[in-house]
Amino acid sequence: MTAERSLRSVFISGGASGIGLAAARRFRREGWTVGIGDVDASGMARAAAELDLWTAPLDVRDRDQWRAALAGFVAHTRGRLDLLVNNAGICRYGLFEEVSPTESDDQVDINVKGVINGAYAALPHLKATGGSRLVNIASCAGLVGSPGLAVYSATKFAVRGLSEALDIEFARHGVAVACVMPWFVDTPILDSGSSGTNKTIRDAIGNSPVYTADEAADVIWRAARGGERDYVVGKAARRLRFLSRFAPGMLRRRLKRAMATR
Ligand code: NAI
Repeated sequence: MTAERSLRSVFISGGASGIGLAAARRFRREGWTVGIGDVDASGMARAAAELDLWTAPLDVRDRDQWRAALAGFVAHTRGRLDLLVNNAGICRYGLFEEVSPTESDDQVDINVKGVINGAYAALPHLKATGGSRLVNIASCAGLVGSPGLAVYSATKFAVRGLSEALDIEFARHGVAVACVMPWFVDTPILDSGSSGTNKTIRDAIGNSPVYTADEAADVIWRAARGGERDYVVGKAARRLRFLSRFAPGMLRRRLKRAMATR
């Protein structure tokens, strides 16, 4: 990282791949100081070589690692944390009984507890910075209970609920909270399956649109500065949000029909 650091700083969990990496590229392009934390050490090294990033080993399940990562990052930014993007996540695809209890635990531990851990660790730094923000990455599976992704879907509903509540609670600290809900985005997560099936998410997508990680990063960039609480990625996501609000019965019938022809 060069000696002349920009004023705005963002830390992105799961920044070594996919949407997190695309967001890191986007924020660097905008001149922000960017830190990433990930379990994938070699992915982080590649990202740092490409982008001039600050990196920290981070398993989001580990609260001590969260504290150390953010303390190191704010030491690097001379005290500022303008934005935490709680992005790290995993997915196990399959019918409920095809996904093992352990695989379900992993999703809850990383996608829910990992996000909560990040919020706890970041809050003192976000408060100290002021005018700062927390952006949590949920999913369209957090808008509508999604067959084949039942537990994943539950974790993303949890992230939405957490974001709604914290947006109200953290306002008194001058910290805004936003939630980003992508439709399918072309990243390695689409190759996820589970121990009980040979199918992956990619096999199940069918004719559905798939958006790029850059499109998701554009929305994260908007969420970092805009005044909304909820952001969706992709036209298909906007349609789903509309149906879930105004035609939930029709949506349910559609999902049941699709399940019957699986
Ligand atoms: P990805 O698999 O490309 O990236 C996920 C990153 O999280 C990886 O770098 C991985 O090493 C890291 N990670 C996994 N477990 C971790 C842990 N315990 N601690 C720290 N880092 C960990 O996947 P993608 O698509 O970029 O996912 C990013 C977020 O976007 C996730 O929360 C995912 O649920 C969400 N999302 C993705 C969609 C998609 O279609 N790609 C759709 C909706 C939401």
